[in-house]
Amino acid sequence: MSARKEVILSGIRPTGRLHYGNYFGAIHHFLRLQQSDATCFYFIADYHALTTITEKTEIYRQTLDMLRTYVACGLDPAKSIVYRQSDLPSTAELSLLLGMITNIGHLERGTTYKDKMIKIQDDPKIDGNPLSYGLLGYPVLMAADILIVKADVVPVGDDQRQHVEMACDIAEKFNHRFGCEALHRPRAVGRDALRLPGLDGSAKMGKSDNNTLDLLDDPKTVLTKIKGVVTSTDPLPLDTDSNDPDQVIPKLPGGLSVLYRLLNLVAPEEVYLDFLQQYRDGGKFYGNLKKAVAEHVSKFNEPIIEKFNDPANNDDFIMDFLRENAKKVTPVALDTVEACREAMGIGRSLYRG
Ligand code: TRP
Repeated sequence: MSARKEVILSGIRPTGRLHYGNYFGAIHHFLRLQQSDATCFYFIADYHALTTITEKTEIYRQTLDMLRTYVACGLDPAKSIVYRQSDLPSTAELSLLLGMITNIGHLERGTTYKDKMIKIQDDPKIDGNPLSYGLLGYPVLMAADILIVKADVVPVGDDQRQHVEMACDIAEKFNHRFGCEALHRPRAVGRDALRLPGLDGSAKMGKSDNNTLDLLDDPKTVLTKIKGVVTSTDPLPLDTDSNDPDQVIPKLPGGLSVLYRLLNLVAPEEVYLDFLQQYRDGGKFYGNLKKAVAEHVSKFNEPIIEKFNDPANNDDFIMDFLRENAKKVTPVALDTVEACREAMGIGRSLYRG
């Protein structure tokens, strides 16, 4: 028998347009992993997107557009199994089963829930949304996503690490409590994820903070956004001689850190080094720096925009591969859910055959 191939799983919520934080934090890694031998599952977490809604949404449309952007970035739905979470409705069943063994106290310590609670305390009127049962159960649903496909590795950024650890705990508890091996525990969490600062100089680029640079931004938008980055501090002496971006960039003041980070990601190394030298030399060069960053960002976006708009990259194409890929994950998912039903004692479903 051949050894089981390693299973990698990751999900992104359909938040609309993909930004540079998504790209360099996640998609960039998906593209690399897609070249490996592993089985890669990448899904759009549309159920998770429902945990905070207050009215009818455009999640379906946003999901299709996100997938068109994935494809434009080079994600190949023939190599990676790309699907919509809600096309695997047995995830909801597994989430229900896992919920039976999850303590509320554990969930109340979940970061997503806690953050929302703090936001509501700060501003009780905030989008009229009370804390929902679905939001409290966010980590259980996420555990179901991970465990249902028997993932070995779950590459996520720091902010999602706690959720993946909760999934490991839930799997362990389930197997222990029911004396079974129904759930496969992920072996590893994490990736060397880059946390890209926001254009406003804040710690993280994120859609809800309105500080993103998007992969589909046209050159004019890019220039406007980059010009808007605040660079009010004149160059200050840097207490390092290193040119290593991870050493130097965090030492740069405010908006300059995001400009240099972008330059380092999308421009040739000599351009980044040249501007770093100019910083060390002092002087007035921020205008040129911004122009260079905007130019390289637009150059990076150009082929993505072109492939996004390619007539072949249309809704029919997306729906066809979603259908095909849902068919590929479903047997694995049903195997997990049925094993859990059996382990808990309700027995296998009588209608699935
Ligand atoms: N919660 C993740 C996020 O907001 C998205 C997600 C849902 C996910 N289910 C997952 C990520 C399972 C990894 C594995 O980014």
